[in-house]
Amino acid sequence: MANILIATYSRSGKTKGVAQMINNLLDNVDMYQIEVAPDTFDRDMYKTDEIATTQIKNNEYPELINEVPNVDQYDLILVGSPVWRGAPATPVHTFLEKIQSYSGKVASFYTDAGTANGYEETFKQWAGKLNVLPAHEGSNDLAAWIKELN
Ligand SMILES: Cc1cc2nc3c(=O)[nH]c(=O)nc-3n(C[C@H](O)[C@H](O)[C@H](O)COP(=O)(O)O)c2cc1C
Repeated sequence: MANILIATYSRSGKTKGVAQMINNLLDNVDMYQIEVAPDTFDRDMYKTDEIATTQIKNNEYPELINEVPNVDQYDLILVGSPVWRGAPATPVHTFLEKIQSYSGKVASFYTDAGTANGYEETFKQWAGKLNVLPAHEGSNDLAAWIKELN
């Protein structure tokens, strides 16, 4: 059985919930929370959107406060994120940058409010040299998606 890391950024808990569902479907899983300092974003969604947009524009992505585990021990990394303005949340960029030397497989799962357009393309772009497999939106059909990845 493959060793899997589920690395998740979740601002309001929805993506974290999906990470839990995936965790329940698999053995040999470690969970990593992609986290930034509490004052990085705002309680207000629109202000958070502005902050993230500025980070992207200036190519200044937020630092992570949790140490990223040694990813070489995993065969597959599942990266969870909410959709922010048709892209992954900016802490995911920092995470992907930190694992650029990883040679295993990476796939993203994401949650949104109905308009995900551009997310998957931007994820691939941010993933750089990583080996990216098909992504999954929402909380349905998770088992089928995981099967497809193996
Ligand atoms: C800054 C920001 C931007 C967002 N942009 C989008 C968007 O472009 N499309 C969309 O469908 N939902 C958007 N949403 C809604 C979130 O993707 C959705 O609520 C997600 O499930 C939240 O996940 P979380 O609880 O794990 O943080 C946005 C939310 C925030 C805070």
